[in-house]
Amino acid sequence: MNLKILLTGKNGQIGHELSRLLPELGDVVALDRQQVDLTKPEQIRHAIRDARPQIIVNAAAYTAVDQAEKEEALARTINADAPGLMAEEAKKIGAVLVHYSTDYVFDGSKSSPYVENDPPNPINAYGRTKLAGEQAIAAASAAHLIIRTAWVYGTRGKNFLLTILRLATEREELRIVRDQTGAPTWSREIAAATTRILKQVSGREGPVASLSNLGGIYHLTAAGETNWCEFAQAILDLADHASNRASWFAAATEGRPVITRRIIPINTDEYPTAARRPAYSVLSNSRCKRTFGFALPDWKAQLQSVMAQS
Ligand SMILES: NC(=O)c1ccc[n+]([C@@H]2O[C@H](COP(=O)([O-])OP(=O)(O)OC[C@H]3O[C@@H](n4cnc5c(N)ncnc54)[C@H](OP(=O)(O)O)[C@@H]3O)[C@@H](O)[C@H]2O)c1
Repeated sequence: MNLKILLTGKNGQIGHELSRLLPELGDVVALDRQQVDLTKPEQIRHAIRDARPQIIVNAAAYTAVDQAEKEEALARTINADAPGLMAEEAKKIGAVLVHYSTDYVFDGSKSSPYVENDPPNPINAYGRTKLAGEQAIAAASAAHLIIRTAWVYGTRGKNFLLTILRLATEREELRIVRDQTGAPTWSREIAAATTRILKQVSGREGPVASLSNLGGIYHLTAAGETNWCEFAQAILDLADHASNRASWFAAATEGRPVITRRIIPINTDEYPTAARRPAYSVLSNSRCKRTFGFALPDWKAQLQSVMAQS
């Protein structure tokens, strides 16, 4: 019998890529916010009981990091209460829950890559709500996989790559933060890795039994590390040299030429934002490599692949 998979947040950066890749595994019921609103527990229960999936993949989330400072209660409903309820429902029907979390559960005080059991200590509201989501899922004791990723970007949605490409058509100089270190990760790589892991665990004793043993938190980001300033420079270098005029690129630049000539590195305190961000949030991918036998490519290789997208 084919696996049945329920996907929420199908229009998000990661959700969109998952909606294209998960059908390799089985029958996918992919839902958007109109079909299941994570602020409405009844809709969550109904969606799960109706589909009766073996795997639930929750790619929906409240991801507006600065806005969350003013809307922490709403962010908590979506990022903590909803995944907690999904885990309870998963437990009842013997399904697995796959969920995404963030490098922003850490405070950034380390200077070497964070491992899964480093103590979290979020320094912003978004991070607090995401950590509460991890805890709510663990408390429900369903088989689960929590994938912590970071600095997600791609060719759709709201992200740093698309913002830089737009700004590069508007300003000759860009001032970009240099003192935050992380690993920019392409949404498609995250979706492909999720699919790969699910293929592996579905092939053994089935996803529930496998993830009862192998489940828990995994870090999954691009290899290597960089800062926003260096990432912006790499984007512009590739934008300049690529003959890439793909439709997503044309949409991001509105067909206008790149005019930025200089990127000026600045410090975080010169670019005040509502939410504080960790100064260092590189995640170690060793657990994924040890358990599932692979790690994602380096951030620069991922960026090159994205820029080559038609
Ligand atoms: N973006 C990052 O840099 C980053 C970094 C680390 C971890 N993550 C985690 O990775 C996961 C996916 O992130 P992403 O970047 O793909 O997010 P995204 O592009 O912002 O997509 C989130 C999706 O959630 C949906 N959503 C928001 N509120 C909802 C609600 N009340 N009910 C149902 N759906 C709702 C949105 O619907 P609409 O399309 O209708 O708005 C959107 O499709 C999240 O768990 C996020 O916390 C992201």
